[in-house]
Amino acid sequence: METVTVLVIDADEASRNFLAQLLQKKNYKVKHASSAQEGVRVVEEETPGMVIFDTKLPDLSAMELIERLQKFPDIADVPCVVLSSKSDPEEMQACLHAGCAEYYVKSGMVMMTLVDSIPRLLMEGKRLRKRSEKGFLFTFLSAKGGTGTSSLCANIGMNMASHLPQSTVAVADLVLPMGSIASLVGSDEDTFNLVTVADQQTDKITADFLKDNLIVPSHWLFHLLPGAPNPETAINLQVGHIPNIVDSMRKAYDYVLIDLGRSLSRISLPIIQDADLVVLVLSTDLSTVNHTKKLWHYLKDQGIDSTRVFPVLNRAVGLEGLTKAEAEKILELEIKLMVPYMMGNFTLANNQHTPISMKFPTDTATMVMKQAAMEMSQKAIKMRG
Ligand SMILES: Nc1ncnc2c1ncn2[C@@H]1O[C@H](COP(=O)(O)OP(=O)(O)OP(=O)(O)O)[C@@H](O)[C@H]1O
Ligand SMILES: [Mg+2]
Repeated sequence: METVTVLVIDADEASRNFLAQLLQKKNYKVKHASSAQEGVRVVEEETPGMVIFDTKLPDLSAMELIERLQKFPDIADVPCVVLSSKSDPEEMQACLHAGCAEYYVKSGMVMMTLVDSIPRLLMEGKRLRKRSEKGFLFTFLSAKGGTGTSSLCANIGMNMASHLPQSTVAVADLVLPMGSIASLVGSDEDTFNLVTVADQQTDKITADFLKDNLIVPSHWLFHLLPGAPNPETAINLQVGHIPNIVDSMRKAYDYVLIDLGRSLSRISLPIIQDADLVVLVLSTDLSTVNHTKKLWHYLKDQGIDSTRVFPVLNRAVGLEGLTKAEAEKILELEIKLMVPYMMGNFTLANNQHTPISMKFPTDTATMVMKQAAMEMSQKAIKMRG
């Protein structure tokens, strides 16, 4: 078998040598680099079979190094492992999203495990691919109104943008006959919205057109495509352009969150079928859970697999109602997230157009929104492989 060359990029000489020794013992050929620039030069000369790098480099950040490496076409076939001196979930997410095979917090033990897992990593084919051409698509859907679908879509979107700083996030409001996210986040919806975009010629609705025109409402960090501002305007919506709008949004942004509300229709179904994750928002009352069960059965019949469904139980209406276990039993689906009842606080934050995590940074709901954002992104990355 041909000897695999492993490039080790690490500014710390002792740790670099320790890893090199472990690698050599297993008959790997090792190339050393003490900075990102040096690592890039090694790759320039000859593509290694594998790259292992420490994130604490004197010249470039982890993401900058990854971007530099990705400029080499051959590197797309090379697994890349990140060693970090501290656990940093945001950095981990960014590196894995960029195509790194593993992210480890560095220790002697971890380095031994890593060396043992090289044959598996080489086989698995997780490569330092270029950023995907299509962003992740998350649709937010509910079987009944008032379950908090729009509030969660906006707040989870904000948390994604905040905790995945290397990624771009957009939210689109496709609820008909009128959207609510623009008013929730305090943004103007009159001049640029779903209806005005759909009015454009097909060839004008490009990723660049959206990037140039979608604004970031203050405090919310994501780019917003507001929905139809009122029913009169919605009547004129060129629905035939919606698939093109969604497609261009996915080309323009890493994560696209779409509020569909209750609008399950010929327009929304293909979007749901295309989504990486279908977030089903339900409240704890029996009637909503039963409606959600019907909706889920319908989606299943339309080819949506349960692994793509992300049910969220939101206690929007109070403390009473079904427990998580009771709701799961009816739905025959695992509830992925529980949002606590926030009494009037959620409405207060909404009325002030402020994200929950800004208005109530120590509230459990703030933690839950962050958890939702991270779990959804991790799940989607894993599913795409
Ligand atoms: N966990 C919660 N605790 C308290 N209030 C909540 C909670 N979640 C949502 N709410 C409140 O419920 C109301 C409805 O929220 P939202 O508009 O997001 O729901 P929706 O499902 O999008 O409704 P619609 O069917 O009108 O689109 C809002 O006033 C919001 O503040
Ligand atoms: Mg809504």
